[in-house]
Order: sequence, then C-alpha cells, then structure tokens
Amino acid sequence: MNILVTGGAGFIGTHTLIELYKAGHTAVVIDNLSNSNPESLRRVAEIIGLPEIPFYKVDIRDREGLEAVFSKHKCDACIHFAGLKAVGESVEKPWEYYENNINGTLVLVDVMRHHGCKNIIFSSSATIYGDPAEIPITENCPKGQCTNPYGWTKSMLEQVLMDIQKADPEWNVVLLRYFNPVGAHPSGRIGENPNGIPNNLMPYITQVAVGKRKELGVFGNDYPTPDGTGVRDYIHVCDLAAAHVCALHAIDRKCGIGIYNIGTGHGYSVLDMVNAFIRVNHVDVPYSIKPRRAGDIATCYCNPAKAAAELGWRAQYGIDDMVRDSWHWQRNNPDGY
Ligand code: NAD
Ligand code: UD1
Repeated sequence: MNILVTGGAGFIGTHTLIELYKAGHTAVVIDNLSNSNPESLRRVAEIIGLPEIPFYKVDIRDREGLEAVFSKHKCDACIHFAGLKAVGESVEKPWEYYENNINGTLVLVDVMRHHGCKNIIFSSSATIYGDPAEIPITENCPKGQCTNPYGWTKSMLEQVLMDIQKADPEWNVVLLRYFNPVGAHPSGRIGENPNGIPNNLMPYITQVAVGKRKELGVFGNDYPTPDGTGVRDYIHVCDLAAAHVCALHAIDRKCGIGIYNIGTGHGYSVLDMVNAFIRVNHVDVPYSIKPRRAGDIATCYCNPAKAAAELGWRAQYGIDDMVRDSWHWQRNNPDGY
C-alpha cells in the first residue's frame, strides 16, 4: 500500500516509516516541522537504503496544501501522527492544542474523503482511560476523565473518527492506544528529540546520564505500588512502529472500527527503569525523590491480547532493549539531530 504519514518526521513516525518500507509498503510524508527536523527523514532514507523519502512541508490544517499532495499521490491509507503532544504546554495553551489537533484532523479527514481515501490509523493514547477503572486495562475499560487538554484532544478525536465511520461505513478507522513509547532504532541514528526540558521519564534519564541535567526527580515514592513509584507499560518504539503495519491488516479486512491497546502488558516502576538503565548501560543516573506530579496516576498497564488475536501483533523487545537503545541514541546524538 501507499501510505500518507502525517507527522512522519517525528519520533514515532520516523520509526514507523522504516517498518512500512521493510514490509514492502511505500509512504508519502507530510509534516509542518513544528516539533521535528528534516534531518530525521534523511536518516530514515539512509537506514532504508533509499535516496529520499517523499516529503512535503505541509500543515494538516492547510487544505490547499493537502489537496496538492493527494492530487499528486494516490494514497490507500493514512497513518495520522501529526499533533501537538506536550501535556504541560496543553494546560497553558488549550486553544492552540484543540485548534491544531482537532481542527487539523477535521481538515485532513475531509480532504481524504474527497479523494476517496477512507482508511485511517490514528495515534491515540492510554491517557484516554484517565485513572483506569481496571488493571490491566482492556479495550472494554471505560474512557475516563482526562487531566489535561492534550488528553481530551485524543479522547474527542476518537469519538469524531468513530462517528464519521458510523455515518459512512466505507471508512475503516483504527484507533491505536499507545502506552509509554521509549527506546530508539537500534542503529542509534534516529530517536526521540524533545525540545527543552523533557517531560517524560526516559528522555530525562538519558539527559541526566549524558550530563545535560544534574539529577532525575522521581515524582513520588508513596504510591500504592511495589516500590512506591509510578508503574507504567513502557513499549519499545520499534514494537510500536510495527503495530502500525499490523494495523494495516485490519484495514485490509475492512474492520470498520478497530480499537487496540498497544503496550507490552508489563508494568515497570520509575525505579525499575532507572535501575535497568544503570545495570545495562553501566552509567550512573543520580536521582532524588520529589513530590508527586499533578495529574499522575499510580499504575497504568494494559492487556494487549486483542492486538495479538486480531492484528497478529506482539511486542518483541524487553526492558533491557529499551534502556540500551534509548542510551545508544542519546550517547551518539547528545544534542539530537
Ligand atoms: P512528535 O512530536 O515527535 O511527532 C509529531 C509530528 O507531528 C512532529 O514532527 C510535528 O512537527 C508534527 N506536527 C504537529 N502538528 C502538525 C500539524 N498541524 N501539521 C503537520 N505536522 C504537524 O511526537 P511523537 O512522539 O512521534 O507522537 C506521534 C503521535 O503519537 C502524536 O499524535 C502523539 O500525540 C501520539 N502519542 C505519542 C505518545 C508518546 O509518548 N510519544 C504517546 C501516546 C500518543
Ligand atoms: C505522560 C502524560 C500522558 C501522555 C504520555 C505520553 C502526564 C500526566 N501524562 O504519561 O498524557 O500520553 O506521557 O508518553 O504528563 N516521572 C518521574 N520523573 C520525571 C518524569 C516522569 O518520576 O522526570 C515518572 C512519572 O511520575 C510517571 C512515570 O515516570 O510515574 C512516567 O512518566 P511519563 O514518561 O511522563 O509518562 P506518563 O506520566 O505515563
């Protein structure tokens, strides 16, 4: 298939491009580069062994720009990564988040249907479960209250896409609810490249390890978890990328609506991650215990059985691979791209 990849220059998009080409698909990337650098796509091409990846610097809110891409390239499906994703920033700038993520998706989907492309794989998030009603989380777990506008954009866009499919059954909508993506391509050439101070755990650990930050703050050690620190379902980004290729099978089978948790099913605490990082990489990560972070929950991990049964997808990488590949990328690229 030929796939339109929105946000393809970003962290998960770049890794997914590699998996798409490995599986025999081709891609066209659009990205406004608001949170990425075209160097990432140059490196993807280098890893795949192509002169370049077709790329357009287009914003998903730019109808004419999208029209031009769809007129030039016949696309069978869209993998839709483009969006703003910083939780704290979304609290400061809710209008910008709703406008970019929701308006952007509405314009994208409208242009898609005008061009007869009615297959979409959407990047959703475990955050839509709020404080989850059950652990491990299955897809039947009710959606919850999000603690920030970013989370609400994901929750609302799931509803928007399902309603569009309900009204026009020619659509196939796959909602992938990602748990916590970490790691990097084993080549060490592409990886996560956060702007400014990282919000998420793994990029913070790697920046402490490489000497860019003094110490990690562990946000709370009084949660009802085995060691008191928060437990999450960390997933290697290459496994997550592969899930998108498997999700194309659901589209092939005309799934209508498909909703899948994409995680490993294992919960690791903050200290599990820090200790694995130190053990595998033989590098120190100084840390101190800080108060809980507002909006955090104690435990979040999934039951990924539905993705295994229906998509044939299972995570292959473990915690040691995750911390090794995260470090490999950071050590080789201390200042990102
Ligand atoms: P990323 O920021 O690295 O990639 C997103 C890309 O989208 C960036 O390259 C950015 O420039 C682009 N973009 C943003 N707004 C755009 C617009 N209006 N038009 C065109 N391009 C635009 O983020 P990522 O980690 O690769 O995440 C990809 C998707 O997965 C996002 O939708 C994110 O919300 C979702 N997600 C990420 C995580 C995570 O922890 N990384 C977890 C759950 C869900
Ligand atoms: C966060 C977002 C979530 C988003 C997800 C994407 C919040 C409240 N939630 O989830 O909406 O979908 O990222 O991956 O921001 N931690 C520390 N010190 C740090 C950073 C994190 O102790 O410097 C802890 C956190 O308290 C948490 C765990 O590490 O227990 C993971 O945190 P993080 O990587 O930010 O992910 P989430 O909070 O799960």
